[in-house]
Amino acid sequence: MERKIQVGILGGTGMVGQHFVKFLQNHPWFDLTWLGASDRSAGKKYREAAQWHLGGDTPASVADIVVDECKPGNAPQLVFSATDASVATEIEQAFAQAGHVVVSNSRNHRMDPDVPLLVPEINPDHLKLVPIQQRMRGWKGQIVTNPNCSTVVLTMGLAPLKPFGITKVIATTMQAISGAGYPGVPSMDITGNVIPFIGGEEEKMQRETQKILGEFQGDGVRDLAAKVSAHCNRVPVVDGHTVTISVELSAKPSEADLMQAFSAYTSVPQERRLPSAPPMPVIYMLQANRPQPRKDVERERGMAVFVGRLRSCPVLDFKFVAMGHNTVRGAAGAAVLNAELMVTEGLLD
Ligand SMILES: NC(=O)c1ccc[n+]([C@@H]2O[C@H](COP(=O)([O-])OP(=O)(O)OC[C@H]3O[C@@H](n4cnc5c(N)ncnc54)[C@H](OP(=O)(O)O)[C@@H]3O)[C@@H](O)[C@H]2O)c1
Repeated sequence: MERKIQVGILGGTGMVGQHFVKFLQNHPWFDLTWLGASDRSAGKKYREAAQWHLGGDTPASVADIVVDECKPGNAPQLVFSATDASVATEIEQAFAQAGHVVVSNSRNHRMDPDVPLLVPEINPDHLKLVPIQQRMRGWKGQIVTNPNCSTVVLTMGLAPLKPFGITKVIATTMQAISGAGYPGVPSMDITGNVIPFIGGEEEKMQRETQKILGEFQGDGVRDLAAKVSAHCNRVPVVDGHTVTISVELSAKPSEADLMQAFSAYTSVPQERRLPSAPPMPVIYMLQANRPQPRKDVERERGMAVFVGRLRSCPVLDFKFVAMGHNTVRGAAGAAVLNAELMVTEGLLD
């Protein structure tokens, strides 16, 4: 890339916004030059507006940027969105209407039929929804979303098995507290405890999985016709969502077929050598007690999903475990990889 592409963050002062700031440091294609937030922060320097929750100090490259309001006008063409869900619908639409490319981490537009819910390894062709979206909404810009943080772990674990015909899935999560933002779950609730409820999470996992693993067919995405049942739990882990998965497959493959599918799985981001793409997006761990969030979550810059413990299931066909970094592969890293794919698809030209 001859010149870096300037990028901004809507909701740059929040928890996910800070993960974007961190992930974009020294990015080879993108230069973070603009930060937007609420009118509580607008007009202040980033270091004053954002209480930095991640390791170290506020990165020097952004510390003195003056935070702007989330209104189109001064922002670069490409903006990542990490705004509060209560305002994301209007803000993202206003930016897309004004010609911006909005790569969003918020849930608001994920299930809109004309908005890609993108995982670059799984459904890069869902970007064909963008011209349909622009035509239907009459805007020059676009909105592209990434999945919920637990959905991305489940779908990356299932993607290598899709050729065998996925018909039923039962997924149980053990989700890290960082997924609840800051200050998140009260310490008195989560320390030494398991909370078997995360509002709206099971419904999101079920519906998003069917859309992500669905097929683009000319004018839209046909959902994967599989039954998906999710059980979502919050556990006292800092980073890394673990998901145990049972799956029924119509082709009735052998365990060796599945092992081969996991170990051979690569896709478009790897072929195109996108800067944030891990060399292998799904890594099978042979040790009987892995993957584990504390030991494995930081590997591959948090961008790979780790699977293991493949074995037969007496109820469905097979069961296994998957684990991935919820704030990297499940949030900021996912959106940045989406934007990299979009650059190579010419969607920023
Ligand atoms: N936390 C996670 O791990 C996670 C994971 C996946 C997805 N998400 C989604 O990502 C989004 C952000 O989550 P978060 O945990 O980072 O929330 P957060 O820490 O509360 O940050 C919210 C951000 O939105 C901004 N904002 C609030 N009201 C606004 C307004 N009226 N106009 C413009 N900006 C406004 C805030 O600016 P101020 O600082 O000025 O208030 C802040 O930058 C949410 O949609 C959430 O559902 C979160």
